[in-house]
Amino acid sequence: MSKVITSINNLDFTAADLTSMDKPGKIIMVRPTHFSIDYVINKHMEGNVGKADKALAMQQWEAVKSAFEDTGMEVHVIEGGEGLPDMVFCANQSLPFKNDDGDKEVIMSIMDSVHRKPEVSLIEKWYEDQEYQIHHLNYKKISRFEGMGDAIWHYGKKLLWGGYGFRTSLEAYHYISDTYKVPVIALKLEHPEFYHLDTCFCVLNETSVMIYPGAFEKKGLDLIRAFFDTIIEVPEDEAIGSFACNATCPDGSTVVIHPGAQKTNAQLKHEGFKVVEVPTGEFMKSGGSVFCMKMMAY
Ligand code: ARG
Repeated sequence: MSKVITSINNLDFTAADLTSMDKPGKIIMVRPTHFSIDYVINKHMEGNVGKADKALAMQQWEAVKSAFEDTGMEVHVIEGGEGLPDMVFCANQSLPFKNDDGDKEVIMSIMDSVHRKPEVSLIEKWYEDQEYQIHHLNYKKISRFEGMGDAIWHYGKKLLWGGYGFRTSLEAYHYISDTYKVPVIALKLEHPEFYHLDTCFCVLNETSVMIYPGAFEKKGLDLIRAFFDTIIEVPEDEAIGSFACNATCPDGSTVVIHPGAQKTNAQLKHEGFKVVEVPTGEFMKSGGSVFCMKMMAY
């Protein structure tokens, strides 16, 4: 039975009721050999077609990879597919999970844009090799789901935060909740700059989250406030200009973030987080930064 919560009025559990989930120890990254900006499918890409510096992008990607490795995570690299300029954003094609028996499962995405659909089977191949149980969404019932770009696990807990509105439809979360037997808190996204949940919501650890409040409805903010003790609010200029919420905190204490979000960084440090700044400017021209350049897996 699925449980998808969209308002605090139908919430029947608290943070204290959440059960534990193994933390992912692996990070998947896709080498940006074929990265470029060839089309416009989000607001950030407007005016940037043909403007990615591929050599610089490769350097930035290597630096992000090193920053992840420095946190002790094991990084697995998948080669990018020719003609798939956005495949480097590998937060989007899947949503992995580890069940109570310790088995690895994954739900594959239905990409919203026709340009990105072929990426999914290339990523699926990695999961096959790693012996995951693979689930596919029913195309007849669900039009789109963009993986961990929109569906973000509460740190170490069986609770999924699900953004919907632009790249994922609400119905997808009923299937996911049913398949993984986890509750989903669904948050509606309304601003085109914040088209994926990972552009405005970054889980840091079990009790802390970083958000851009302007991306959410009041209903969504009430739900976020009900589950996190520490909420770092990112100002609009840093959320848009530095993609500050698209940071990643793989170990619950080190935040890898694009440089320059001074107010955000000060708050992070004040809360005891270590801030590691790595430039991702070439990828930001395409609408993504640190968080969407990787997948957390098992
Ligand atoms: N150009 C890519 C797209 O629009 C960027 C994806 C960024 N991914 C993310 N999870 N925010 O699909």
